[in-house]
Amino acid sequence: MAEQNKILVFGAGGMLGRELLAAAPPPGLELVGLARAQVDITDAEQVAGAMARHRPGLVINAAAFSNVDGAESRPKAALAVNAQGPENLAQACHEAGAPLIHISTDYVFGGGGQTRPYLESDPPQPVNQYGASKLQGEALVRAACPRHLIVRTSWLFGALARNFIHLMLELMRSRPAIKVVDDQVGCPTPAADLARALLTLAAMVLEQGEAAWGTYHLSGPLVINRHEFAQMIWAEARESLGKDLTIEPVGSEVFAAPAKRPAYSALDCTKIKQRFGLALADWRPELARIVTLLQESEKQPRV
Ligand SMILES: NC(=O)c1ccc[n+]([C@@H]2O[C@H](COP(=O)([O-])OP(=O)(O)OC[C@H]3O[C@@H](n4cnc5c(N)ncnc54)[C@H](OP(=O)(O)O)[C@@H]3O)[C@@H](O)[C@H]2O)c1
Repeated sequence: MAEQNKILVFGAGGMLGRELLAAAPPPGLELVGLARAQVDITDAEQVAGAMARHRPGLVINAAAFSNVDGAESRPKAALAVNAQGPENLAQACHEAGAPLIHISTDYVFGGGGQTRPYLESDPPQPVNQYGASKLQGEALVRAACPRHLIVRTSWLFGALARNFIHLMLELMRSRPAIKVVDDQVGCPTPAADLARALLTLAAMVLEQGEAAWGTYHLSGPLVINRHEFAQMIWAEARESLGKDLTIEPVGSEVFAAPAKRPAYSALDCTKIKQRFGLALADWRPELARIVTLLQESEKQPRV
């Protein structure tokens, strides 16, 4: 018999996983996190063992091979974690009768040259191995577990794990001038806000037992390019850094990264608002909070 009030989170050691575990669970719900060291989702037996041990009412999969450049040289490893792993989870959830909330990405898009936010009904066209592996994972989840919600999100940032903000602050502290690409447009999303929304979604599903199963987009409301994002980080960090800085907009070719990035991958999040009443708020106050936190922790003496 499943424990209807228990949510099992796979990938609990990652950026989103940590935010899920740090968030206050909705009243009456228990959250249990499993990091990669506890369960490797590419191993179907380990997944089945975890499901039998915990008997969750619902599962959230936040585990991923998220190294976009690394996936170019290790496409099989990316597929194992982003496609086979989710399939293992989806099969185990289906057998246990537990719904699965699986996290996917805006990087399933980008190949078609579109310049308006993507709808769930737009045909995916990934431009790199990471996006292709996540797209395959989505298909396998749909096939193995009808009671699924695939939630595509984008450009996660937060204080609990390294991301674009950490990189920008390091560069801003150490250099008089930095270059940031202005030919990648998307929707930055605070991992903490996403985590809270996912837990609200999980609570709704558990309470109602059924849901409008399917694929949804959920990201922050601002559509900006990476250079604009860097400028917003700088606006928050400038005073504490007490220096001048030039932030030069450049094209992606300047960095010659192994993986191509989508030029445009903003997500239209209307559907999840209509079906579940969920929308993420303007994240500028959260950005200010995170930059202040990271700047303060940088000033602490290291032991
Ligand atoms: N970060 C973004 O900007 C972004 C954007 C769009 C969508 N997403 C999606 O959001 C979700 C969460 O991303 P994130 O940024 O939190 O990623 P993350 O920080 O890289 O966390 C992923 C976690 O998955 C774990 N993991 C890797 N392989 C595993 C395996 N075989 N079995 C179990 N766990 C495994 C990792 O463990 P190790 O730490 O030990 O490797 C890590 O803790 C993913 O589905 C990702 O595709 C992320």
